[in-house]
Amino acid sequence: MIEKQTVLITGATSGIGAAYARRLAEDGFNLIITGRREAKIQALADELSQTHGCEVEVVILELSNPKEVDDLVESIKDRSINMLINNAGFGTTKFFHEESLEIQEKMVSAHILAHMKIVHALLPEMIKKGAGAIINVSSMGAFLPSPKTATYSGTKAFLRAWTECLHMDLEGTGVQVQVVCPGLTKTDMHIRLGIPEEAVVDWGPFQWISPKTVVESSLRSLKKKKVVCIPDRSTKMQLFMRQITPESLYYKITGYFLRKYGWGDGNRS
Ligand SMILES: NC(=O)c1ccc[n+]([C@@H]2O[C@H](COP(=O)([O-])OP(=O)(O)OC[C@H]3O[C@@H](n4cnc5c(N)ncnc54)[C@H](OP(=O)(O)O)[C@@H]3O)[C@@H](O)[C@H]2O)c1
Repeated sequence: MIEKQTVLITGATSGIGAAYARRLAEDGFNLIITGRREAKIQALADELSQTHGCEVEVVILELSNPKEVDDLVESIKDRSINMLINNAGFGTTKFFHEESLEIQEKMVSAHILAHMKIVHALLPEMIKKGAGAIINVSSMGAFLPSPKTATYSGTKAFLRAWTECLHMDLEGTGVQVQVVCPGLTKTDMHIRLGIPEEAVVDWGPFQWISPKTVVESSLRSLKKKKVVCIPDRSTKMQLFMRQITPESLYYKITGYFLRKYGWGDGNRS
């Protein structure tokens, strides 16, 4: 019997992480999934193990808490994990100077430091085996900065540059890395940010996509060994527009629209 491979997915309670979990369970992986909403993530784990006959381990984890991340690292470092998806993340809705430093520090810890620790712990075994895949979920914010996302976009830009550098560091080891930069995706993130349902509509170049679209595109790109994956045409178009727009005009237009329509009024870490 062929032994199942194992994937570790951070932030698999809902949205993009849950979509990776569903798709990879269907593909025959055993799963280790992390989240904080215990009942919801456990329900997903039960559903996937019953439907696909895979093992699903749930880890309840606050990624901005270094001690909890260290405990996770300790428990996984000697295990055979074939794929890692660093997906967990959250947004905020205030200007940098109006947002508490505490929340922004939590964001840096959860988006960057926690995922760095996990990658650092798993890489030696992957390199030894000469195989493995790491997917870092960044955002269109890595390329398209906007008001009220300074720390969010900053951490996502870090993930993009970091992944591209890792790709070069890991050349010839058999370990593959990818950074995914989704645009507007319909997930719980927007509910938590307080974005009203009526604002989650396609508008001109701003098109909403599903978590499933992100995951299908990411896994297709992984097969093609692409390092940077932009899953939707709308984000690709916005990137192109940014490249041909003079800097000052980009800041004016983006600033105008996002100051006017904003990112909601919630603030959920
Ligand atoms: N939705 C978008 O438009 C969009 C666009 C580009 C990139 N992204 C990125 O996609 C990733 C997934 O987000 P999503 O849109 O799927 O949102 P989501 O449905 O809210 O899922 C976020 C996941 O991350 C977990 N999480 C968030 N903060 C955490 C923390 N401090 N510690 C531990 N776990 C934490 C959540 O756990 P609990 O729910 O259990 O608390 C949840 O499982 C994020 O990195 C986000 O930045 C989203």
